[in-house]
Amino acid sequence: MSNILIVYYSLFQNTKNLALEIAKQTGGDIRELIPDKSYSFDYNTAAKEVRNEISRGFCPKLISGNEPIDDYKIIFIGTPNWFKTLAPPVMSFIKQHNFTGKTVIPFCTHGGGGFGNIVNDITKECPKTVILPGIAINGTAVREEVANWLDSTGYES
Ligand SMILES: Cc1cc2nc3c(=O)[nH]c(=O)nc-3n(C[C@H](O)[C@H](O)[C@H](O)COP(=O)(O)O)c2cc1C
Repeated sequence: MSNILIVYYSLFQNTKNLALEIAKQTGGDIRELIPDKSYSFDYNTAAKEVRNEISRGFCPKLISGNEPIDDYKIIFIGTPNWFKTLAPPVMSFIKQHNFTGKTVIPFCTHGGGGFGNIVNDITKECPKTVILPGIAINGTAVREEVANWLDSTGYES
């Protein structure tokens, strides 16, 4: 088993593709977060659902991906940029685990807004954790871009 975990939530597969690329290049274990209720695949309906959850600080129950993380030292955490912040299932994961002594590396996919507040929002939840520079990809991940970024983060497994 690797001491690297790649954990992510993805609705339309962009973040999943980036997660798969990171897993391929790092040899880490991969975990998809699945909330108990799926969001709509219709953008306008999803936008309403997500706005409502984010405004209430609602964190959905996870039916997959929430297993303990004790065996991992480096945790890549991936999310789509949803209204400048993390998708609620990713916030559920972060709130339910202790990252003290671990290294967290954020990644996101977005439609033009980059990380938005995602890195700040993760840092607020994990104040005692080393957080290395992440990657924000608009659309589909390119292998070379991911490779260059991984080299530059200086993470050590
Ligand atoms: C509800 C919703 C809100 C979004 N909000 C933003 C945003 O604030 N900024 C941005 O750049 N992209 C935003 N997007 C675009 C997504 O971040 C982008 O399409 C992302 O790659 C989707 O990831 P996924 O394919 O893993 O679900 C939003 C998409 C949805 C569905």
